[in-house]
Amino acid sequence: MSEEQALADARARITEYRDRIQHIDANHADLLFREARNHNWWQEKDVTDDQLREIYDLLKYGSTSSNTQPARLIFIRSQEAKEKLKPCLAPPNVEKTMLAPVTALLAYDLEFHEDFAQNYPVRPEMAERFRNDAAVAEKFAFQQGTLQGAYLIMAIRAVGLDAGAMGGFNTVMADEVFLQGKNWKSNFLCNIGYGDLEGIKGSRLYRYDFEEVCQII
Ligand SMILES: Cc1cc2nc3c(=O)[nH]c(=O)nc-3n(C[C@H](O)[C@H](O)[C@H](O)COP(=O)(O)O)c2cc1C
Repeated sequence: MSEEQALADARARITEYRDRIQHIDANHADLLFREARNHNWWQEKDVTDDQLREIYDLLKYGSTSSNTQPARLIFIRSQEAKEKLKPCLAPPNVEKTMLAPVTALLAYDLEFHEDFAQNYPVRPEMAERFRNDAAVAEKFAFQQGTLQGAYLIMAIRAVGLDAGAMGGFNTVMADEVFLQGKNWKSNFLCNIGYGDLEGIKGSRLYRYDFEEVCQII
């Protein structure tokens, strides 16, 4: 396909879906944002490989700077792997994580820039900035990988599952246990499953109003 044709196709796709849909409806806004809660207890209901793939196949479309996509995911499901995760967890996160059907370990790849030519062919030379400065690469990978973590939470909700994100774990230990031989670092964990209301201990906590934290200048 010529570059001209590819551009025309890309624009036609945007026009086509914009004609079909302009706004999410109130139910979807509730599912994704307004009524969605962080879950802390889990029903005995499995999460399938297909569901995990469906989650990934949504989150991967979330934008990242220069399309770098530094997030890496390990879905921890087997009892054996869960037992390895257990000592990494902060005490309040142990029981619920052992009960969760799946726990995603969200990591970021410090060598994400090696795929620059594939992921951002318009400016492959940008990889050099990261190749030459590990600190810049790490900051960037953490920032963009965290953004993908937010997409992960939203994708979990979008497929009708519940998410239980957790920063409370020993990332150094998790790196040793799960990321040996990889140049990745742990970011946060996210339990995935069908939330059990037992884990909801109160009403929605305070959220800032627009006037408190936003300015239009
Ligand atoms: C990245 C991230 C890390 C979190 N870490 C933990 C955690 O380690 N343990 C925990 O019980 N909750 C954790 N939470 C849950 C938050 O405390 C919870 O989302 C927040 O209090 C708001 O509650 P809500 O999402 O139900 O409205 C985390 C949430 C996020 C997004």
